[in-house]
Amino acid sequence: MALFLDSVDLDAIRDGMELGIYSGVTTNPGLLEGIPPADRLERYGEIARICPGSIYLQVTRQVPREMEHQALVLAEVASGRTVIKLPMSPDALRLCHSLQNHRVPVCITAVFTPAQAYAAALAGAHTVAMFVGRITRAGGDGIESLRQAMQILRAASLDTRIVAASIPDVDTLSRVLTVPGVDATIPARLQEPMLSHPGTEEAIAGFAKASAGR
Ligand code: E4P
Repeated sequence: MALFLDSVDLDAIRDGMELGIYSGVTTNPGLLEGIPPADRLERYGEIARICPGSIYLQVTRQVPREMEHQALVLAEVASGRTVIKLPMSPDALRLCHSLQNHRVPVCITAVFTPAQAYAAALAGAHTVAMFVGRITRAGGDGIESLRQAMQILRAASLDTRIVAASIPDVDTLSRVLTVPGVDATIPARLQEPMLSHPGTEEAIAGFAKASAGR
């Protein structure tokens, strides 16, 4: 039940890694907006230097040959620690399958249904990223979809991991974590609310008062 930080912000990643709660960093093209395309590989390298864990980097090309080339380039950013994210599609599954020959782990992302998760796992995905919040926003039940996907993979003895993504708030994170064996990735803005509670603040103030001058 690993936790990942979904960010390309170097300060947020540095701060997060010091906490010792993250197994790695996930990224996506949306987070890279504002960083010129020519600078993105360098940013990935900086993330890999700060984060000792797994680094999830997403392929943005859409032509199969270009997708493969980009995947192999990204895999070298942190060799042995990079997981290549491919948005769910038949081409993505084909590439996922063939990248096993290169021993490059793949995360099939933008997964909305247990059936998609099952297909990704059969194609040899290391990880499936289920968009829990977006499933719920689209009128479904993100947590139930996550639970079903996990049940299916385990019943089929597929060891593909599932990382819950698109987590909008701490309550959703808590419900995600009730699904046995699931990993989760959270945006940096959830870190502070995940770690704090008014009751904790009140207790700390009480401890400080009780120990004042001692
Ligand atoms: C992960 O990489 C996803 O892109 C991300 O969690 C999506 O979150 P959103 O639904 O808040 O955009």
